[in-house]
Amino acid sequence: MNPDSIRSRSDVMQERSDYKNWVPKSMALGLAGGTLAAFVLFLLLGATDIILKGTPRLICAILFGAGTLVLLFYTCWMAALHRTFDYNGKRKLAKTIIDGTAGYVKLPEGGTGLDVGCGSGALTIAAAKRNPKAEMVGCDIWSGAYKAVFSKRRCENNAKAEGVTNVRFTEGNAIRLPFPDESFDAVTSNYVYHNIAGHDKRQLLLETLRVLKKGGSFAIHDLMSQARYGDMNAFVKALKAQGYEDVRLINTADGTFMGKKEAKWLGLAGSALLVGKK
Ligand SMILES: C[S@@+](CC[C@H](N)C(=O)[O-])C[C@H]1O[C@@H](n2cnc3c(N)ncnc32)[C@H](O)[C@@H]1O
Repeated sequence: MNPDSIRSRSDVMQERSDYKNWVPKSMALGLAGGTLAAFVLFLLLGATDIILKGTPRLICAILFGAGTLVLLFYTCWMAALHRTFDYNGKRKLAKTIIDGTAGYVKLPEGGTGLDVGCGSGALTIAAAKRNPKAEMVGCDIWSGAYKAVFSKRRCENNAKAEGVTNVRFTEGNAIRLPFPDESFDAVTSNYVYHNIAGHDKRQLLLETLRVLKKGGSFAIHDLMSQARYGDMNAFVKALKAQGYEDVRLINTADGTFMGKKEAKWLGLAGSALLVGKK
């Protein structure tokens, strides 16, 4: 084989985008390791009388036996989630959700949009592709639970791999965004606010809407269950009363992005898209 063709093929492979996974492989592998450890302890301390005898052995058998089963269940669930979200898998649910949300991001020529909690840049890049005459900014804290998988560098590499130049990425916390009031023509976000513990979710939405220009549009997708967000219908009403237009809460777990049953087993029940115009 011609060495040039080998080199160019590997170059292409290196330059492919990799958006990673909301449920990283390391999470499932960590759980698999825990399952194995619990099973070994079950065998050594509970199933045989090599080390322990009598009541202590019985307690260990119950403890490590039950622990093994629980961890095995979570390992299988994590692996199934990983496969379902995978950009290269069969279901490609993450891609369906990203593309569906990006479809609502409408930017005027020369305008700028913001993607809050951009992760690996998937939604920022998808929205930039749909609005080639505008620019998208992606911001994230790139720390905490997703530190090992998402980064600014990953976002930039993904944009480069996709040949998208109308994007930039910067550090920014959704709790207090580092942007002036009314500085973007559109704001978007996907599955971010439910991760921010100890903060009122509707307050986080208002912080995102703070940086949206009057007349600008928003499309925010998250797990907007009553338990997390409180009464979202009242929130929609309050926005309308403040002069926001065409505000709608779209249930995306009714077949729009995923089916009701699928959302339930994936832990995505309550998925909804808040759209409208300021
Ligand atoms: C489930 S991931 C979703 C990533 C991306 N929006 C997507 O759809 O692929 C959640 C993201 O929220 C980010 N995040 C969590 N807390 C944040 C905060 N306070 N401010 C900004 N981003 C945050 C995480 O770093 C992570 O990238």
